[in-house]
Amino acid sequence: MKDHYYFDNAATTLPKPEPVYQFMDQFFRSHGVNPGRSGHELAVEAEAMIVQTRRMLGEFFGFGGDPARVTFSQNATDSMNAVLSGMLNPGDHMIITRMEHNCVLRPANHFERDHNVSVTRIGADSNGFVDPDEIAKSIQPNTRVVVVNHASNVTGSLQDAAAIGKIVKETDAAFILDSCQTAGVVPIAMDDWGVDVLVYTGHKGLFGPMGIGGMLVAEGIEIRPPRTGGTGVNSISPFQPDEYPYRMETGTHCLPGIAGLNAAQKWFADLGRTHGADADSSHGQACAAALAHIHEQELAATQHLQNAFSSIDGVKVYGPEVGQPRVSTLSINIKDLPADQVGAMLDADHAVCVRPGLHCAPDVHELLGTVPQNGTVRFASGYFTDDEDLKQAVEAVRDLAES
Ligand SMILES: Cc1ncc(COP(=O)(O)O)c(C=O)c1O
Repeated sequence: MKDHYYFDNAATTLPKPEPVYQFMDQFFRSHGVNPGRSGHELAVEAEAMIVQTRRMLGEFFGFGGDPARVTFSQNATDSMNAVLSGMLNPGDHMIITRMEHNCVLRPANHFERDHNVSVTRIGADSNGFVDPDEIAKSIQPNTRVVVVNHASNVTGSLQDAAAIGKIVKETDAAFILDSCQTAGVVPIAMDDWGVDVLVYTGHKGLFGPMGIGGMLVAEGIEIRPPRTGGTGVNSISPFQPDEYPYRMETGTHCLPGIAGLNAAQKWFADLGRTHGADADSSHGQACAAALAHIHEQELAATQHLQNAFSSIDGVKVYGPEVGQPRVSTLSINIKDLPADQVGAMLDADHAVCVRPGLHCAPDVHELLGTVPQNGTVRFASGYFTDDEDLKQAVEAVRDLAES
């Protein structure tokens, strides 16, 4: 019997791999200094850890550009705001989808209302899939950015980023991919897919802590600095340096957060080398093997829940059908019970942690018709979800549906 059966991995993964906790603690104690500022040995070593993390993340995401263009921020929301405000100008057009998180919807609404940017919102089918051809049809001469949520944090539907990238490549627009639900969950090939800006957050599938995220920016993409201030380099210059990463990063870094990502990257590579990758494989190759293994395991858990929930009278399962591309996020409702009430009962009576509600993605619930029920109840399995968790989730849902 566990204290908690954790199915809120789409919000934040728990637990993290053990080396993440250990390295964060150890590095913060031994090297908790201001990297890139002072020239002493500890600061140089702390900076070296940051540089190594940029390099590993670049390989992890299939990005062959300068690792300095792998940048850090507080989280995906911060980076999404930075890239949009750094690229859009009055008179521009942007394309988003109705599968977006509020980290895209709200900035888009503000640009539309306050800054004379026109917005096209592409719909999705009833399983949560966007048709790339709809994006192609919506491109205009002034389309500056196309922003797509790689996988929905409500339905788990995984969009065809490669097909969308191919379409956007033929235009003057930039393709921005929100990888919050896919980074660390499925392999991402930024360069091959034609992604211009990849926005990531650290605390979900990447197994880092909260407070760290960022973006990777392809060569040739122009983004104005989101903020200006100290960088530790070229201090005599009155203006923010143009060079990466300083263009995107200012002020003291979240060193413990970057240390967490660093340890997690090494954990991914080790996992890959015990699941199909050669002992001497590159970081990128080893991580690709790890991601194939993680995705397979998470899909098995999701499929188990999907089958079990679908067989319970009164339970409605939303999102992709079995076999359609997806991640582990699975939304359900029980009879006509409000989602928040179900979430509270799952927690109080069964120690099952889920996320009920609109999941910061109101348009998805409009599409699913779940707004009147206060959204859906979201089960998101993770790499550390085990059979006991799955059994408890199914028994808990059956209990509520039958009562
Ligand atoms: C698809 C998607 N985009 C963006 C975000 C925002 O991430 P963060 O809160 O870490 O900025 C989330 C987090 O829930 C998400 O699921």
